[in-house]
Amino acid sequence: MEHYDSSEKNGPFRTYFFPFKLWKQVVTAFLFCLAANGTISAQDTAVISIQNNAKWTISKHIYGHFSEHLGHCIYDGFWVDSTLPVAKKDRIRLDIVEALRKIKIPNLRWPGGCFADEYHWRDGIGPRKQRPKMINTNWGGVTEDNSFGTHEYLELCSLLNCEPFIAGNVGSGTVEEMSKWIEYLNFNGESPMAKIRKENGRAEPWKVTFWGVGNETWGCGGNMTPDYYANEYKRFASFAKDYPGASLKKVVSGANSTDYNWTETCMKNIPLWQMWGIGLHYYTLPTGNWSSKGSATSFDEPEYFATMKNALFMDELVSHHEAVMDKYDPEKKVALAVDEWGIWTDVEPGTNPGFLYQQNSLRDALIAASTLNIFNNHSQRVRMANLAQTVNVLQALILTDKEKMLLTPTYHVFDLFKIHQDARYLPVSLKSPEYISGNKKLPAVNVSASTDSTGATHISLVNINPSKPVTTVIYLNDIIAKTISGQLLTAPQLTSINTFDKPGTVQISHFTGFKKNGNILTVVLPSKSIVVLELR
Ligand code: AHR
Repeated sequence: MEHYDSSEKNGPFRTYFFPFKLWKQVVTAFLFCLAANGTISAQDTAVISIQNNAKWTISKHIYGHFSEHLGHCIYDGFWVDSTLPVAKKDRIRLDIVEALRKIKIPNLRWPGGCFADEYHWRDGIGPRKQRPKMINTNWGGVTEDNSFGTHEYLELCSLLNCEPFIAGNVGSGTVEEMSKWIEYLNFNGESPMAKIRKENGRAEPWKVTFWGVGNETWGCGGNMTPDYYANEYKRFASFAKDYPGASLKKVVSGANSTDYNWTETCMKNIPLWQMWGIGLHYYTLPTGNWSSKGSATSFDEPEYFATMKNALFMDELVSHHEAVMDKYDPEKKVALAVDEWGIWTDVEPGTNPGFLYQQNSLRDALIAASTLNIFNNHSQRVRMANLAQTVNVLQALILTDKEKMLLTPTYHVFDLFKIHQDARYLPVSLKSPEYISGNKKLPAVNVSASTDSTGATHISLVNINPSKPVTTVIYLNDIIAKTISGQLLTAPQLTSINTFDKPGTVQISHFTGFKKNGNILTVVLPSKSIVVLELR
């Protein structure tokens, strides 16, 4: 992982879509008034201007999730023992389904991850007792009984009311195997695969459209070079057929973090018509070091600062991949799909290191909210993203312990931000004060805004400063704001977590810390907080 200090390169302020000269005038005039007034210190004030000039739609698929056969995400997560005393459909846990329906998850990526490239779909269909077992070599070497397969996953998606996103096996699979899986899923006529599907109890095809052609083919998915993979992609994609009503949206297995050459090689060699999107995987490591990533629950301020710096790097990363894509696709036909992202810490002490089980703190919520703001601000190109992973793995939304279940701080961020799904993006300019730690600095505030189909405007604001509130002045221009309401996510400490005994330590509350005067809205963002405002 590379370290990058955006504050060093771009200065502490990031400005979207607003000419710098105009900015200078607005900000100087504004700060002059405040200083003259003696009310607010200019250094502590954020200034935002929102243009009522909707540009494009923020795809709901930015708010996507990921569920791999890894640790207790699927098994003892979504898919539980039939004796577990919780409400279930078949063996799918319905309390989890209900919680995820509430936040409107738009898609769920499956079956991996690294697992995808050793998964053979035919082992996961038919009578469960007859399904062959396999070893999950990537994740703890446990025995996979294949009881959760294609039918079970698609039943889960249907209960969740979300779109499936399947990653096909390129690494250890064949073109024929992938091609037949798609026929099994999507063909509505008479065919060998459709016949087997019907024998397995499903008459109608599911019409799956999001289709990943391999996963991390530069690593666990086959250790390929980009040139080799680009050729393989074309071969696999050629036989990944569209069937009536199920035109595939194929996603290229994308770059690892800053491997811009990977994106470049794929964009150069794969014809645009053969791909819907190209992936990108980036994880935030608190220490930046894979062998000792840092604890999920115990960290000091320097480590918090480093973590936030690594998380905010997503902005630079996405910009750079976009610039590469623009060279080959200036009309932005191909989506950038950040199909794995999130904070990756050391596992909770005493848990299986192969299961990637980590707690989730207010820090993680600040990362999630800041990252979603970044994706919204890049939503002309970023049209899909998948947080890793939904239940009990990495930056989870939900943790379970037998029949108990809790919602993490990150869950609440997705609850707050669901209002941006499929809303129209509003250009925002921001001048943020600095969050200074030692001799290092980051922008304290980040923001994005959208307007929905009912005419409501939503502004999502994050203050990453752990100890200082930030007064934020928002120029609404001609945005209607007859009524304003707000929601807040914060907690006593950055390390605050929800536990099975105390599940409500980090939760959403009502927010009233704003005042409107004419078309200027002044908001006092508490330290380490996320605020979402609704203007009507
Ligand atoms: O999300 C955990 C793992 O991280 C995935 O299996 C893999 O794609 C990535 O390296």
